Amino acid sequence: MIELLVKVGNKRKWYTASWLEGGTVRMIDQRLLPFKFKVVSLRKHYETAEAIKNMTIRGAGSIGAAAAFACAQAVLECKSKEWPKKALQSFDRIANTRPTARDLFFAIERIRNVVEGKQLREAKKAALEEAQKIGKEYQENGKRIGELGSKLIKSGFRILTHCNAGWLALHDWGSALAPIYFAKRLHRKVFVFVDETRPRLQGAKLTAWELANENIEHAIIADNSAGFYMQNQSIDMCIVGADRIASNGDVANKIGTYEKAVLAKENGIAFYVAAPLSTFDFDCKSGRRIPIEERSEQEVLYVSGYEKGLRKVRIAPKKSKAKNPAFDVTPAKYIKALITEHGIIKPKKSAIKKLAKKCKKVPK
Ligand code: MRU
Repeated sequence: MIELLVKVGNKRKWYTASWLEGGTVRMIDQRLLPFKFKVVSLRKHYETAEAIKNMTIRGAGSIGAAAAFACAQAVLECKSKEWPKKALQSFDRIANTRPTARDLFFAIERIRNVVEGKQLREAKKAALEEAQKIGKEYQENGKRIGELGSKLIKSGFRILTHCNAGWLALHDWGSALAPIYFAKRLHRKVFVFVDETRPRLQGAKLTAWELANENIEHAIIADNSAGFYMQNQSIDMCIVGADRIASNGDVANKIGTYEKAVLAKENGIAFYVAAPLSTFDFDCKSGRRIPIEERSEQEVLYVSGYEKGLRKVRIAPKKSKAKNPAFDVTPAKYIKALITEHGIIKPKKSAIKKLAKKCKKVPK
């Protein structure tokens, strides 16, 4: 069941961030939100791969689901004499879109595993079924994270979040925002501080849009004001999502997460990370080994917004250059707990190993 509701014009409709209809992937173009709601149709796997790369769709879980759909498209596109070589090349193309989100590789591995060794006809069927299954799992996992995480939220809580880890980012429900949505459904009063999240402004544009749709009270704050509110005791807890979690509990998430976690520790505020198992990289021993995506300097030198239409304006001197790492790593010692669909655990090697075993993914 698709859980979250979007108000588009006067109509209210249920949506996931992307979905697969036959061989066509449809997705909400997140680059246009909150100003324009548009669904794009992608008929070939390379179009879906490009949509992941250019951030039409983004957020670890949504990247995972879209990658699964793209892989299914790649198998469907194959002719008998090209199978399986061409499909494997296409999987590589999909894998080369974004380096940090573990879910991308998780989804590709899942599709590769179900098609391996099969005749093309069976492989097509298996790839389609597995891709739909992966999408469904994100929905269920997000909901479960919401259920479990909501237990940490008391009525009246003021919660800080960074970037967008809502239903746009996890296919449905979300990771960091799911507990908040669940708490709201349990009639708990919550207020959300939304970090604007430079340079792409996923907080100001996407998280705020989701929260407004859900009638959740919130305020967008400049990225550098979180410390002010923490010091003033205006924040009760922090919840963020994750792009990759190492087996020692270190977490890669949107750039700026690390400094919020350090500030939270300094001010005695609990800092939680919410993510499904698909975001854990059990073979990655420490956060230092997580590949960090470096994106175009254009994202820092320009801002895009809406003023009589969508506009992009330069905000820095013409001769200035910029640097743009898209993620940072928060060491486990700053994280109170990890909220997963299998329970809330300590960000410790032993707890993650136990979790992996329970889910039959034993780390090497
Ligand atoms: O660059 P993005 O927008 O894909 O980054 C998204 C984030 O960092 C989210 O916080 C993260 O994916 C967790 S939500 C599933």
